[in-house]
Amino acid sequence: MRVLITKNYEEMSKKAADVVAELVNRMPKCVLGLATGSTPEGLYRELVRRHREEGLDFSMTTTFNLDEYYGLDVNHPQSYRYFMDTNLFNGINIEKKNTFVPDGKVPVKDIDMFCKEYEQKIKKAGGIDIQVLGIGGDGHIAFNEPGSSLTSRTRLVALTEQTIKDNSRFFKSDKEVPRYALSMGVGTILEAKELLVLATGEKKAEVVAKAIEGPITSSITASAIQMHPKVTVIIDEGAASRLSMAVFYRFAAEAEAKIGLKLF
Ligand code: GLP
Repeated sequence: MRVLITKNYEEMSKKAADVVAELVNRMPKCVLGLATGSTPEGLYRELVRRHREEGLDFSMTTTFNLDEYYGLDVNHPQSYRYFMDTNLFNGINIEKKNTFVPDGKVPVKDIDMFCKEYEQKIKKAGGIDIQVLGIGGDGHIAFNEPGSSLTSRTRLVALTEQTIKDNSRFFKSDKEVPRYALSMGVGTILEAKELLVLATGEKKAEVVAKAIEGPITSSITASAIQMHPKVTVIIDEGAASRLSMAVFYRFAAEAEAKIGLKLF
């Protein structure tokens, strides 16, 4: 696992944009797995800037988002579709028909079918080349809450009290936060060819340490990234502040620069 520690949020976002832009330039038809939340906002801002100022071209790119609140319409300002449109898709030259976010309004009876089809679409597109991931306060990736099987697939999930509380900052009150979501499973995420994990701030330090250095456990679904052979973690100093191997990660990052190879 590559663990890159940056001075601050801005540098984290720029380094993450370097990884994504390198892929998009090298493989214009690539498939990006995207995440929502505050963490990747800076990455998306930087990608929009590079598109506008440097011509970074997304015209042949396809994207799949990790998750969506169940019950929210695409036009709801807190829906993840709305988030992606406003934070990224409207600012770059991607074809909207090539952007996929689970549909939060799919009727209950059709959920299973919808989730199977979402996975099939990912496969048909050739699989996800890089999956961007944030980490929730309770250690989740996507909406895979503690206890989610590490082989789970796209499905309807219930949200924990902590997630509802954490995410209530975007809504008028706790009561308005949906209680369910459609989420890619941990197993789905691990099938991506590469993972790009981001975290910022001291608030995330403990959960980041558990995810990277703790035991692999469904209690912290982010710890499943340890089972993936190609993971880049980019975190700022705050989020890295509880890591016990930080000195080694910095050494490996310097070595990478000297050798000119990525040390996974
Ligand atoms: C939500 C999303 C996750 C995201 C998490 C962290 O719960 N489903 O994909 O990683 O929030 O959010 P933030 O980046 O705002 O801390």
